Amino acid sequence: MPHLKTAPFETARLDALVGTGGPWRFRAVEEGNSVELLGVEFGGGTILLEIKKRPDAVIVRPDKITRPLDVEGLKALLARLAEEADLEVLHANIDASRRRPPLASAYDKSIRDFEEPRFPLEKVALEVGFGSGRHLLWQAERNPDTLFIGVEIHTPSAQQVLRQIGLRGLTNVWVVNYDARLLMEMLPSNRLEAVYVHFPVPWDKKPHRRVISDAFVAETMRVLRPGGFLELRTDSENYYRYALEVFSRPPKVDFWVEKNRDLPVVSKYEARWRRMEKNIYTLTMRSLERSPERGELCDFSLEGIDPSRVAALDRRPVVREGYFVHFSHRYRLTTGGGGLIECSFGSFDRPEHKYILYTDAGEGRYLPDVPVRTATNCRAHHLIRESLHG
Ligand SMILES: C[S@@+](CC[C@H](N)C(=O)[O-])C[C@H]1O[C@@H](n2cnc3c(N)ncnc32)[C@H](O)[C@@H]1O
Repeated sequence: MPHLKTAPFETARLDALVGTGGPWRFRAVEEGNSVELLGVEFGGGTILLEIKKRPDAVIVRPDKITRPLDVEGLKALLARLAEEADLEVLHANIDASRRRPPLASAYDKSIRDFEEPRFPLEKVALEVGFGSGRHLLWQAERNPDTLFIGVEIHTPSAQQVLRQIGLRGLTNVWVVNYDARLLMEMLPSNRLEAVYVHFPVPWDKKPHRRVISDAFVAETMRVLRPGGFLELRTDSENYYRYALEVFSRPPKVDFWVEKNRDLPVVSKYEARWRRMEKNIYTLTMRSLERSPERGELCDFSLEGIDPSRVAALDRRPVVREGYFVHFSHRYRLTTGGGGLIECSFGSFDRPEHKYILYTDAGEGRYLPDVPVRTATNCRAHHLIRESLHG
């Protein structure tokens, strides 16, 4: 990740940049903490740069929760900060001469793009955990009439595939760097042709982290059009048996199993298992009927925050039946009043990590974007509202 290491400087100097017409929006500090946050407009949203003060240096880098995929854009942003704030740079990996091919950022989609998605093509398919992207890109090249949405939780894999999209000139791929289990709940009903899950991590010791679960299969059947299919491939006997049980539970679907079915495109993982002569299982489940439309749950509005409630927030996690809320850090903005609250919340196996940005006038919003509209997140959001509103 791009970062700057600078000679120590008085970070209050950065306040002079705020409101000068550049992308710099606010600086936020936490009492007794040597980490500060700089709010910056970037790629149509607000991101945070983390400023870590050490005795011998200051490290500036994108914060993990709001970090976008566009590495080249981040390098340019850090270079601009160094110049505008006149920082003495000791070390930086923002060298333009070592830039890699740019990300095809028009195809880099955030969870916001799925609030009311407008797909550019009638046919839509999804690949979960595409890894190196071989199957995703192969499908997209062969089916120009279909939009392929790839969702991958591992950021470098998502960046690599965005570069490939640019290099190959593809226009029918969207990449989402997010947890597939959450994205699934954002998709409209009866819309997808296919959902591919190839070689998911088996998580034998932490089965709650598996992608395939009763809830995931139910959501997949909801988003598939009647006749659409879910294709799971795995080399793990254990995962295969587990998935067989899960696939057997929905009341009305078709599903079948194939052993060692060849695909015309072989992923890196699959090639490895084949060399080891492991069996590969393909489980396919077909949706048979239309599903109800997704209900509106809540709008995640945070208007009306009471700053005195923020000051009194307990930093211990609040655990309720099936969900939790944890306000871990509070920062005060150094100009204009208001602050930032770092929090995690939602279900225990798929928590959300966000900031809440609020003003002293009571306005508030989630950063970098709203949580995924799941029933559990809505319950957690109501608890957040209760904690922050007078
Ligand atoms: C074993 S790799 C397989 C990659 C690829 N499908 C292939 O066949 O080579 C599993 C991939 O799933 C991704 N992954 C795991 N959990 C995920 C989740 N909840 N949402 C999205 N991607 C996930 C991992 O980051 C990893 O790239």
